[in-house]
Formats: sequence, C-alpha cells, structure tokens
Amino acid sequence: MTSTVEWSRGSRRAHIEKDRQFLWREDTVALIARWVGLKPGMKVADVGCGLGYLGWTYWEFFGCGGSYLGLDLSVDLVCQAAESSRRWALQGQARFAAADAYHLPLPSGQVDCTMCQTTLMHVERPSEVMAEMVRITRPGGIVLCKEPDNLGSWARRTHSSLPPQTLREQMWAGRMGSIYAEGRRRLGRGDMGIGTKVPKMMADLGLVDIDARANDLVFLVLPPYKSSRERFWIHRAQERLQDDRAMQEWERDFKECFLAGGGSRSACDRYLRHCREQRGVTAELHRTQVEDGSYFACSALGGAFFCVRGVKPAP
Ligand SMILES: C[S@@+](CC[C@H](N)C(=O)[O-])C[C@H]1O[C@@H](n2cnc3c(N)ncnc32)[C@H](O)[C@@H]1O
Repeated sequence: MTSTVEWSRGSRRAHIEKDRQFLWREDTVALIARWVGLKPGMKVADVGCGLGYLGWTYWEFFGCGGSYLGLDLSVDLVCQAAESSRRWALQGQARFAAADAYHLPLPSGQVDCTMCQTTLMHVERPSEVMAEMVRITRPGGIVLCKEPDNLGSWARRTHSSLPPQTLREQMWAGRMGSIYAEGRRRLGRGDMGIGTKVPKMMADLGLVDIDARANDLVFLVLPPYKSSRERFWIHRAQERLQDDRAMQEWERDFKECFLAGGGSRSACDRYLRHCREQRGVTAELHRTQVEDGSYFACSALGGAFFCVRGVKPAP
C-alpha cells in the first residue's frame, strides 16, 4: 500500500523545512558531489523530493545547463517546491511533479543521476522503489541514496549540561524504540534501519561500484554560541520543546506503531507519561541554561546517516 502520510503539514513539514538547515556540512556536500561525479549539464531526478532539498543543495554542481526533476507523492509539497525553486534554480531547469515512487512517470534509462534522501525509510517496499530509481537511470548513470539507520538512535551518547539519562532510562527507551520500530514496519510505514541495508539492495539490483559514506555532522553547541548553526539549533530545540501539537502528533504515531509492534497499552501510556514529564523539565532547564550561558551539548548527530552510491552498468 502506498503511504497516506501527508508531509506538507504540521511537524513533518517543519522537519523537512527547518531541520534540513545544517543537516550536511557544506564541505561534505561538495565532497559527495565530487565522489558521485555530478557535473554541469547533468539530468537529475529526486524521488520523494519533499521541498526540493537535494535540488537546491546540489544545484551548483549540476544545475548550470542541467535539469532537476523533483518527484513526490504530495501535490502540496511539489507546488511549494516549484515556487521556491525560482530562487535557486538559475541557469538550468528545475521541474516538480506529483508522482508515486513505485511508478515513476519517466521512460527507462533517461536520467544521469537518480537521488533520494530519507524516502526509502518511509516506504513499505523500499527495494521496489529503488528498482524504479534504477529503471529510470541511464546505463552508466548513478543512483544515490541518503538514508539513515535510526534504530540505535536511543543509544547515541550526548555529553550535555542537561541531566543525562540513567542507564535504566536508556534501556527503557531502547526497548520501547525497538517495539515502535517493529510496529512501524508492520504498518508499512517504513524501516528505520534502512541505511545499512541500502548497499546490499543496490547490489541485488545489479548496480556496480557501490560505495558508502556517512554524514560527518556533529551536533556541537558551546557558549557563547557564536555560530549561526549553534544559534539555529538552540532556537529549534526550544521551538520543539514548546510545540504541543508536534508532541501530540509524535505520541499518536508512537502509540499506533508501539501497539502494532506488540507492546501493551499500559506500557505505552506509562512511557509517554514519562516522556511528557521529562520534556517539561528539559524545556525549563534548556531555557535557563541558555540564558545564563551554561548550556552545552555534543553528540554525533549524523553518524548513522548513510550516503550510498551505485552505478548502473552498461548492458
Ligand atoms: C522525510 S521526507 C524527505 C523529503 C526530502 N527528500 C528531504 O530530504 O527533505 C519523505 C518524502 O517522501 C515522500 N514520499 C513518501 N512515500 C512516497 C511515495 N510512495 N512516492 C513518492 N513520494 C513519497 C513524502 O511525501 C515526503 O515528502
């Protein structure tokens, strides 16, 4: 079944709009563009393009004389992305279309580089979507998939001025997260651990020269918060901590998936109550620490966010 989740509204929209800022370091983007072999004049397609993040991020490497086609299930998103592309798609052609990733509206073997970012992790049958990406790519062309492995995110260490989780809380979060992930998969909402599976999926589809890198982004915030990146992260954390609607959306999704994963209603309610309480405490501490300049944090934010490249062989 194709997803019915609408990404143009609420916290999902905020996620692909706001949290895309500073998601990959600029020099890493340039390195990936070189590694992939993006060149001016190339024809690029972006599957599950959202607001066109991959388009504007890599435009400077292929856009001059080239073309970009952003494809997404959400009609609202492709309209908004087309509108904003007028600001970044200069000296080339950027187009957007509503399309289902399982049936891409393109003939076979036309595209020089077919990309996606955090799309495979949200579809029920990622290898079918990847097969479509391979189909529209020309022989000798490239398939690029940027997908995370979020299964272990609960265990990612953060050294911070905020109180650390106890070992018991960490293990609890890990157990709850695993049941949630299982339910999410069973409901057809995608595989949170897809990142590590992408290279083998490419190999199974006959791609060659497969290679992988990982996002080197470090979430580092230190007083006096001089960089725009640090100030953005502080602002975004406060926004998230105060966003009750986003919390409700998250709780609803968590509950549906947790129950589908075999968890009990009482275990779910107890955990969500704990998360709500923690959120209140964290919001207050975060605010006062930022104000008095004692807040700091460091963690490997991008560590398990893979960037995998494969080449479609000539027949
Ligand atoms: C997490 S967002 C990623 C958006 C964008 N690639 C980015 O990195 O900002 C996932 C996107 O995949 C789209 N999507 C999900 N299932 C799809 C499908 N079957 N066909 C096309 N797009 C799909 C959603 O509408 C959403 O915009």
